[in-house]
Amino acid sequence: MPGSSTVTVHADREVLPDRAVAPPIYQTAAFSAPDGETFARGAVEPRGKAFYTRFGNPNHAQVAAVVAELEGTEAAMVTASGMAALTTAVLALVSAGDHVIGQRSTYGGTASVLLNLLPRFGVATTLVDQTDPEAFARALTPQTRLILVETPSNPLLQITDLRAVSDLARAHDVLTMADNTFATPLNQRPADFGIDLVWHSATKYLNGHTDVSAGVLAGPAELLDKVWDTGLLTGAVLGPFDAWLLLRGMRTLPLRVPRHNANGQALAEALHAHPAVRRVHYPGLASHPQHKLAADQMSGFGGVLGVEFTDGFEAADAFLGRLRYARRSASLGGVESLAVHPASMWRGMLDDEQIAASVPPGLVRLAAGTEDTEDLVADVVAAADASMGD
Ligand SMILES: Cc1ncc(COP(=O)(O)O)c(C=O)c1O
Repeated sequence: MPGSSTVTVHADREVLPDRAVAPPIYQTAAFSAPDGETFARGAVEPRGKAFYTRFGNPNHAQVAAVVAELEGTEAAMVTASGMAALTTAVLALVSAGDHVIGQRSTYGGTASVLLNLLPRFGVATTLVDQTDPEAFARALTPQTRLILVETPSNPLLQITDLRAVSDLARAHDVLTMADNTFATPLNQRPADFGIDLVWHSATKYLNGHTDVSAGVLAGPAELLDKVWDTGLLTGAVLGPFDAWLLLRGMRTLPLRVPRHNANGQALAEALHAHPAVRRVHYPGLASHPQHKLAADQMSGFGGVLGVEFTDGFEAADAFLGRLRYARRSASLGGVESLAVHPASMWRGMLDDEQIAASVPPGLVRLAAGTEDTEDLVADVVAAADASMGD
């Protein structure tokens, strides 16, 4: 098996043999067929690449070839955003009367799908404490069809025991889907632990340059065929140029991730020791309550940390205002450091009660970019010092 840096450079080579070293952009909505038989075949070929771009495009297929190999799955597909990957898969896999289990600590959009969207279509949902594998077992009902996990979770960096959840699900004929956005396939491969479908906001680390919104799904071809079928109807198709940018970003993923990991660890250690900080949520810290589980299923801990300020909402806001490098922005996973205050960001997505149940008001989510470690550390320490004086 080639290593990940070889995979990201070469895994798409056979998708469309071409003499261009950099792949061409297939900026076309449709393809022509030489005869009726080829045309008819193209109309039903899952994740094809030469019929109609909503059905598939060579630039999608190139991204999918790399993602599948990185995640260690049979196949992969691309969507217009991470949320499109989630909603398309969920719509494909559950029906009215079914039950879905999710986590209490999870990305706000995923929480909203579970709390607000699915119940409107007659799908019951239960959100559990992901740090307790037994909680998933207790939530199972005869109608449970799907378990959605996210590890580490956004923004509390809680860890889910992937093996325990997938064993439980398999024993009850329930499908599992893992959001692997924070970890990336470089740090964690959920399919190796028995998870059925892996998905990403490719907007984040996979692309890595904050210039594309995209999503990917990886898993067995048969399951993805079903999702693709529904994707034709939801129509959340990634533009060819964005797929090209995503592939270009992924080429350097294995170079970027070790730097994100090192910066995440250094910022976590520096802030953990700071008097303005009550707690740092980062799975790479020995003080993280699930550090051992994280070390068992991850090979690196990523660039995102949750920093909880002792003086709450105002101190968190003051810290953000003092940062020189990390800008206040909703994203993460790019080469540039970004920071956000989830308690204020989620106001439009969740009601006050849902926010209070998900995040402490003084929490800042810090996403370390690939800048020099010492510059980032000096910056966060100075901003934390200043937050005490404000
Ligand atoms: C962990 C996680 N999953 C999914 C998403 C949604 O992805 P997108 O914004 O690409 O739709 C996000 C976005 O922030 C995220 O952080």
